[in-house]
Amino acid sequence: MLYKLYTTREGDDDLQQIQLEPAKSRLSGELQIPGDKSISHRAIMLGSIAKGTSVVKNFLNGEDCLHTIDIFRNFGVDIQQNGTEVTISSSGFSSFKEPTVPLYFGNSGTTARLMFGILPALPFHTVIHGDPHLTIRPMDRVVQPLTLMGANIDGRNNGNYLPIAIRGTKLNSIHYTLPVKSAQVKSAVLLAGLFANGETTVIENTKTRNHTENMLAAFGADLSVQGNEITITNKNELRSTNVTVPGDISSAAFFLVAAAIVPNSVLTLKDVGLNATRTGIMDVLKKMNANVEINNERKSGGEMLGDITVTYNELKSTVIEGELIPRLIDEIPIIALLATQASGTTVIKDAAELRVKETDRIKAVVHNLTTLGASIEETEDGMIIHGKTPLTGGHLKSYSDHRIAMMAVIASLICERSVTLDDISSIAVSYPNFFDHVKKITNG
Ligand code: S3P
Repeated sequence: MLYKLYTTREGDDDLQQIQLEPAKSRLSGELQIPGDKSISHRAIMLGSIAKGTSVVKNFLNGEDCLHTIDIFRNFGVDIQQNGTEVTISSSGFSSFKEPTVPLYFGNSGTTARLMFGILPALPFHTVIHGDPHLTIRPMDRVVQPLTLMGANIDGRNNGNYLPIAIRGTKLNSIHYTLPVKSAQVKSAVLLAGLFANGETTVIENTKTRNHTENMLAAFGADLSVQGNEITITNKNELRSTNVTVPGDISSAAFFLVAAAIVPNSVLTLKDVGLNATRTGIMDVLKKMNANVEINNERKSGGEMLGDITVTYNELKSTVIEGELIPRLIDEIPIIALLATQASGTTVIKDAAELRVKETDRIKAVVHNLTTLGASIEETEDGMIIHGKTPLTGGHLKSYSDHRIAMMAVIASLICERSVTLDDISSIAVSYPNFFDHVKKITNG
């Protein structure tokens, strides 16, 4: 792939502007997809809470997950990292020390939301903060159930926005129905339930990713799942265990779509996580007539994984809504690009959550795809895309959001002219070797 990088400065930040040229030929080859972000965070958290040594393999070396490592080092946990292998040696939750500095979560919403399930039960005071984007993301969705459990939390706007201060206390169990379809909220309540007196139950009316449940079980927590009810019983000591993280289907998604839209492409993505709560994009690709095949499907450490091969095919439109949304919530920006290359009208609805992600992803996607000449309308809870349209080229914005930036890069492969993107630095949040992979499959 042909591209030129320019570094510019805006305030304290270095912006990495890029000019991207269209792909010259079909895409081909095989990629080893980096570790799953959700699972990497949880492995560090539970490995630190557990007493003993836990080794995490294929850990995602992205900025968000590195912030999670830093947090637990601040509590005195010994965490050694050697590339994608992380060794956690912990004396257990009860030996955590009060940090002497505020804890910094960077851009990581998952670190923030999940830590609300741990910090309020620690017998000390913590102050947490993040980058300017995280600082405007809502925290009341986790603060509210934790307050019901007895947590002492205060911050801007009644504890809705970082910076937030937490003074640890004894927590009480809760019976809680999730008001938002959010795995982060579910996870925070379940983690708090580990430390709270008695039994904590979370009820989710729409299934969201269940990595926390899988991993709590692997670390010896007392957890049961019955239909849409998850119950966890107080347990102050987890047992250490080793975790091998599957490839992140949310990262694979960019290349699944690349192969589906660049004529005559064939790509194989290896060892991709195929947990059924995350495979909505596979269902959508099939419904849209893409040619996808799974090989070598297996289970490892409570999670399904396999190799996915995508072969280019003509695409048709579909409707994406309801229970499917949480199963592909992070893939919607790249699915919107896919829909521009499908004949007919694709409707994405029930996805208002996109407005409170790293940026307002509905606005960001509609702005960038409109700039490229797509026919796309913004709705309150999604978007409507009329295909198939050729994409032209132009100047795109990343909105400091890794998934918006990567979508723009994949879009540039099929554009008629060059694309410039204002900043690609956010990509390091979840896919540090993204450009090596783009180069590899474009034979550049
Ligand atoms: C995540 C859950 C999702 C997702 C995020 C990671 C997780 O957020 O968008 O990237 O690891 O639990 P919500 O639970 O807020 O939908």
